[in-house]
Amino acid sequence: MYLISGLALFAVMGTAAVGDPAKGNELFDEQCAQCHHAYTEEKKKGPSLKWLFIKEKLDSNGKPVSEASVTEKIEKGGNGMPPFKGSFSDQDKADLLAFLKTL
Ligand code: HEC
Repeated sequence: MYLISGLALFAVMGTAAVGDPAKGNELFDEQCAQCHHAYTEEKKKGPSLKWLFIKEKLDSNGKPVSEASVTEKIEKGGNGMPPFKGSFSDQDKADLLAFLKTL
């Protein structure tokens, strides 16, 4: 009983969504894969996202690679990438980041 109400409280407070890389992979296949390779370094419409979180800087704007700078790019898009700000929940973004970190 205590456990259940504790979980419900946790869900309501929505503290820092924990990302699920498998769900992020599905989102990537649906929303991103037409423009980005994830497993080869080849460029499609956008740069390859392989090793994204191992790189020091984003190719697109030179900002240091971090959860914040990658999320900003996903939300705002630009230079041929559509903005996804309205399309993803915080959970979706956490899932996507968790997936991108595995590349
Ligand atoms: C219609 C094509 C298109 C789609 C769909 C798309 N992107 Fe992009 N993306 C681009 C282009 C083009 C760039 C390069 C933009 C620039 O140079 O500013 C880019 C850049 C990026 C970057 C910056 C990479 C770097 O090294 O600077 C990230 C991260 C990224 N996209 C993630 C995503 C994710 C995650 C999705 C799916 C939610 C997605 N993109 C969907 C075209 C797309």
